[in-house]
Amino acid sequence: MVTKMKELSLEELVSLCKRRGIIFPNSEIYGSYAGFFDWGPIGVELRKNIVDYWWDFFVRSRDDVFGMYGSIIMHPKVWEASGHVERFIDWLVECKSCHSRFKAEEVLEAAGIKVSDYSPENHQRLIIENNVKCPVCGGELSEIRKFNLMLETYIGAVKSEENIAYLRPETAQGMFVNFKLFTVYARNQLPFGIAQIGKVFRNEISPRNFIFRCREFEIAEIEYFIDPEKENDCPFFKEVEGITVKIWTKEMQKNDQEPKEMSIGDAYNEGVFSNQWHAYWVGKSLEWLMDIGLNIEHLRAREHLETELSHYSIQTFDIEYYFPFLGWKEIEGIANRTNYDLRRHAEFSGEKLYITMDGKKIMPHVIEPSWGVERVVLAVLTEAYSKAEDRVVLKLVPKIAPYKVGVYPLLRREPFIQKAREVYNMLKRRFACFLDISGSIGRRYARADEIGVPFGITIDHQTLEDNTVTIRFRDSKEQIRVRIGELVEELNKLLS
Ligand code: GAP
Repeated sequence: MVTKMKELSLEELVSLCKRRGIIFPNSEIYGSYAGFFDWGPIGVELRKNIVDYWWDFFVRSRDDVFGMYGSIIMHPKVWEASGHVERFIDWLVECKSCHSRFKAEEVLEAAGIKVSDYSPENHQRLIIENNVKCPVCGGELSEIRKFNLMLETYIGAVKSEENIAYLRPETAQGMFVNFKLFTVYARNQLPFGIAQIGKVFRNEISPRNFIFRCREFEIAEIEYFIDPEKENDCPFFKEVEGITVKIWTKEMQKNDQEPKEMSIGDAYNEGVFSNQWHAYWVGKSLEWLMDIGLNIEHLRAREHLETELSHYSIQTFDIEYYFPFLGWKEIEGIANRTNYDLRRHAEFSGEKLYITMDGKKIMPHVIEPSWGVERVVLAVLTEAYSKAEDRVVLKLVPKIAPYKVGVYPLLRREPFIQKAREVYNMLKRRFACFLDISGSIGRRYARADEIGVPFGITIDHQTLEDNTVTIRFRDSKEQIRVRIGELVEELNKLLS
């Protein structure tokens, strides 16, 4: 059950994002380009704060995860070995009249038909049996066919078949092909992880729902290498076993049962996860998502059905977020990729991709948590969006808010402005901070609330007498009075 069913349309969110410089459609003066977006000054800071916190949480604060930054274009053989050339596909249908193209799954969804078997045969059967027509013009639909999602380019001066290269659709492969180099950093010990954040590209048939489905987006992912003989020996499991979340196994889905609220520890003991490390990464992911402000009530872990699994995975859990305008949708996937990728790269490259531990050669298995940055940002904005007296207040947690502090003179005249400047100059090197002297104080608070600034400092009449200012709290609207000399300490306390 979703406890807080907030009223929010996608249009309201898109309008806020455009109005306040968060996210814009790309190339808008040319009518925009579907599936591509630009980020404005507020969006860029929000995104950076989320991504930086991800890096702090999963890389800097751990001894077992190493960062990397790989190139977008890799040797084309990588994508043959990984299986993407053959199997990174969607099932496409085309309208025979207007030639619009759709994902088969989406025309069925648009026709109100529930898909619980993701095989191509089932899509085709459902379209025929339900006489599903083109959602745009009502025309006849073609048979479904494969559509590879990788975007191609040519490398070198000749644009020929032999020179085709791919823009990476996932960052994971950069970590697999560099596995050998990383074993040195890991001092030839398992487990260890490699983490990477970077741009990926997918030629989505129908990009839609704002930044939910893009053609260019960012992925934050970890390939965590474990000893297959120790896949249930996770020394960190205590950290996550108490986290309780709705879990929807494939059996529950097949039997039309509702998701069940369970602790990660109980779910692991009941055999829900492929191994303990898999359970751990589901829990750790939830911990991070809660830290950036998502309510656990709006999150659930849904297991993929067999027909839905990626070609490399034996078990995947999606972390889904409840978007009021879309329903439950995936924002992160946590897959057990076994040794599929290392095995395939070893076969295709001839390299020996194993680690030698205590005299034993081990090809590790991999648990992969993979977050879509755009989808996480969309979830964060959705969660934070609220209204007070018909005004938007973005209740972002302070650690990811684009600005932490706004400084305002009560009146737009001296000596208030001069004093506000002094306070601003004192704070600006320490906190993401701005000075706003335009419009009435009420308008300034409203503007700051809309972009989620958690604290406002006001310079008023009393400031001129006793060097104190007020700190206004965005969410409660409460104010406290603080000496200017103690402001930095007080803000640090509030922000931590
Ligand atoms: N390496 C594993 C992998 O790429 P994925 O489920 O295909 O897994 C990871 O993608 C995450 O990327 C998803 O959980 C989702 O959040 C995000 N994602 C996938 N396709 C997307 C798209 N077209 N636009 C925005 N985000 C997307």
